[in-house]
Amino acid sequence: MTFDAYLEHSLDTLTDSRVKEAMQYSLMAPGKRLRPKLVILTAEGCGVEGVKAYPAAAALEMIHTYSLIHDDLPAMDDDDLRRGRKTCHVQFDEATAILAGDGLLTEAFSHLAQADYSDSVKAGCMKVLAQCAGADGMVLGQILDLTNENNPDCTYETLKQIHINKTGRLFSCALQMGAIVAGETDECKHLEQIGLLLGLAFQIQDDLLDITSTSEMMGKTIGKDEASHKSTTCSILGIEKSRLLFEEVYAELYQQLGECSFDTAQLKAIFDAMKNRQR
Ligand code: IPE
Ligand code: IPE
Ligand code: MG
Ligand code: MG
Ligand code: MG
Repeated sequence: MTFDAYLEHSLDTLTDSRVKEAMQYSLMAPGKRLRPKLVILTAEGCGVEGVKAYPAAAALEMIHTYSLIHDDLPAMDDDDLRRGRKTCHVQFDEATAILAGDGLLTEAFSHLAQADYSDSVKAGCMKVLAQCAGADGMVLGQILDLTNENNPDCTYETLKQIHINKTGRLFSCALQMGAIVAGETDECKHLEQIGLLLGLAFQIQDDLLDITSTSEMMGKTIGKDEASHKSTTCSILGIEKSRLLFEEVYAELYQQLGECSFDTAQLKAIFDAMKNRQR
């Protein structure tokens, strides 16, 4: 079974409702599924079948999708296009979108609780997911992002904290959960660092693409960062320095990946693909 086919049915047992419809709408919109791929490829590199990682990968994609639904709300980035479709609050309404985010956040943990994993794998996944998604992780990054809007004095150090938390922590979570489902917990500390570097690079690139790409290509509105007076890599360093920094972070990332003790060939391939992404 493909991961998307698995994900498609992941909400089936919920009672039919408008909020379930909105959750399904956003979850099954054509995202790139990068975080699930990272979970699956790490697990495979550690020697287990990819399908074993599907429940953890689905839980993480639910969290990521909730973060996007809330990120797009009028009170946050106020966007009307996501994954090539109307954002959740535009397609449904604001209250439904808030609840769809709440529903996906909660369902992620319920999904892990019901997975065919040992108690220690469940506990390990839930712990890392909660830490990476919560108020010391992605949520922290999001509040730092919002409070640094209209801040001309935002430094690169602060921006790095924003990027690492709002984006890096879910990548970190992906790599660590892949190792946990494969029983390779010794590698988690190192994978955490690799995930943070990957997220930093990914968000530098997201900030660049917000200027250089098109809405059609990205499936989300372009030019929003400048319009919202966001502090971004480009607003602080300029485009050329941002590109150089991106290359530097990637060089460090490849070096760290080379120091892993399991088979990282597939991870290397997806890191390459992410480096060259157009959307
Ligand atoms: C978008 O993430 C949010 C950021 C962290 C920049 P993705 O670019 O992975 O979004 P989808 O999942 O493909 O829609
Ligand atoms: C969002 O960062 C990161 C999340 C945790 C959702 P952005 O606000 O830059 O993401 P996009 O550009 O809207 O996808
Ligand atoms: Mg945002
Ligand atoms: Mg946004
Ligand atoms: Mg962005």
